[in-house]
Order: sequence, then structure tokens, then C-alpha cells
Amino acid sequence: MSEYVEIFETGPRDGLQNEKRLIPTEEKIALVDCLSEAGFKRIEVASFVSPKWVPQMADSAEVLAGITRKPGVSYAALTPNMKGLERALAAKADEVAIFGSASEGFSKANINASIAESLDRFEPVAHAAKEAGIKVRGYISCVTDCPYDGATDPAQVARVAEALDAMGCYEISLGDTIGQGRPETIAAMLDAVLNVIPAQRLAGHYHDTAGRALANIEVSLEKGLRVFDAAVGGLGGCPYAPGAAGNVATEAVDARLRELGYETGLDTDVLTRAAEMARGMRVG
Ligand code: HMG
Ligand code: MG
Repeated sequence: MSEYVEIFETGPRDGLQNEKRLIPTEEKIALVDCLSEAGFKRIEVASFVSPKWVPQMADSAEVLAGITRKPGVSYAALTPNMKGLERALAAKADEVAIFGSASEGFSKANINASIAESLDRFEPVAHAAKEAGIKVRGYISCVTDCPYDGATDPAQVARVAEALDAMGCYEISLGDTIGQGRPETIAAMLDAVLNVIPAQRLAGHYHDTAGRALANIEVSLEKGLRVFDAAVGGLGGCPYAPGAAGNVATEAVDARLRELGYETGLDTDVLTRAAEMARGMRVG
């Protein structure tokens, strides 16, 4: 039997958050409902951040209220602070994510805090989520390159990973936020992180800005990672990372993983339909 590799679908969040056109809530719900039929175990559908910072995600509670939840699928949301967590709990997100950075410049631009301040802010969020029986995922942005500070030291990624691990994150997703990582820099970063966190608790989150995300996934597979984040239709990016457009497309990751002999458990026909829907949302 082929080995299973999970694709964590981030399209409705990381994909759509960067779209300039305010996408109607019903369109987001229809996309999530289609994705629910594709076979994902986890879909990131919401982001309880400040609506002033990311207006596109302001209707996250309505999205969570409107979708048809498929049993067995975990519907995830970003929560940068206690206010975000309270909103996520009220909207009945199945799991939440705290999101930090390995670089100071991006941390400040994205969440208006230094790395140390952000970790202090995440601690009560992770604690309260656990008290509420909700799993917490951790993201680290700019794991190889930062749009403000240049190259990232792999040791710094390992330090932030250890801090998120100590807060109880069940999985840490390593973000090449601006898609400038190369197989060599991804490998060096992973070597540092794998010294402190086992591969089974790591995910690769590689944007495809420079067209290297699939190569970066392949090197990560060699290092033992078996979870990769992707966005259907290759939508998105981060509004606070100049040039970050383009998450790696779920359908491209699915196809490459199958070529390499892995099982993804996804229905290609449904995925194709979801990708068309997602690309249509971009065009408006
Ligand atoms: P701040 O301005 O320092 O926050 O922003 P504050 O605590 O001083 O609050 C300012 C105002 O925001 C107040 O409202 C708060 O109530 C409100 P006012 O009194 O002015 O009317 N506020 C909130 N409202 C709703 N929900 C909340 C919330 N928190 C405060 N949770 C903050 C700090 C973190 C809130 C802000 O910087 C923010 O929202 N940043 C989010 C940026 C973002 O969403 N970026 C994209 C996601 S990260 C990403 O894409 C990377 C990733 O994909 C991995 C990768 O690719 O690397 C995950
Ligand atoms: Mg991202």
C-alpha cells in the first residue's frame, strides 16, 4: 500500500485573504462545501484577525456558520490573540492556529509585535484553547527568507519552533511566506528544526512565487515530512508580505505526490471542480 501524505487545505483562508475583491460570503461557503467533498481531513476556512488589517476575512464567523460540516473534517481558523480565540470559539472552529515569524521584520509588519512579544501573546491563547478542548496548530513564517530582513538563520526557526512546541502546538507548519526558498535552504532549515521537533509533527507550507514549491516539498519528503499545506487553484499570498502571491496549488501537489507514489486520499474530479471555482473567484 502506498504511504499516505496529507494535504492541509488552506485555500479559503490563505488563498482568499489576499484577494482585492471582497468575495461574497456565499461564494466562500460554496468553495468550502466543495472542498469538504474532496477528502481533506483539515480545511482552514477562517481567520479571526483584525478586520481592519485583513478586511477579506471579516466574515469568518458567517463562513463557519454557513458551511455544511462533513463529519471527520476539522475546520480550522487563525487566532492571533485572545480576542481572535474568543471569536473562533464562538464560531465553533474545530481547531485554531497561532502564527508567528522567524524574522523580526515580518513579525512586526504582520502582527504588529516583535517575535518575543508575539510568543507572550500566544501563550494564553494556546492555554485557553487547550482548556476549551481545541487543538492548536503553530505557524512560523519566513523560515528561509524575509521580505524585510533577508535570509533567515535556521537556528532562529528552530528556536521559535521550540517555543510553539512548549505551548502545546500539536503540529508546526513551516512557512516559506514569499516563496524564495530553494531545496538547499529548505533542507538546511529542516535539519535545524528536526533537531528539536520530530518530522511527524511538522508541516511544509511553501508558497510558489518562484516556482520552486514542488521541489521544496520533494526535499521535505526526503527529510520525513508527510503533511503539506496548499491552496486550491494556487490562490493567494499574504497581504503583509510583498511579492508573496501564490500558494502552491493543491491540485499540483496532489498530482506530484501521486507521481511519486504517495496516496493523498483526495478525489481528483472534486478537486478539479474546486480549483475552477477558486480561480473563478479571483477573476471576479
Ligand atoms: P494591533 O493593531 O496591534 O492590535 O494589531 P490591538 O490589540 O492594538 O487592537 C487594535 C484594534 O484591532 C482594536 O480595535 C481591537 O479590538 C482590534 P479598535 O479599538 O481600534 O476598534 N482587534 C481585533 N478585532 C478582531 N479580531 C481580533 C482583533 N485583535 C485586535 N482578533 C493584530 C494586532 C494581531 C490584531 C493585527 O496585526 C492583525 O490582525 N494581524 C493579522 C495579519 C494577518 O492576518 N496576516 C495574514 C495571516 S498570516 C499568513 O498569511 C502567513 C501564513 O500563511 C504562513 C506563511 O505563509 O508564512 C500563516
Ligand atoms: Mg501562507
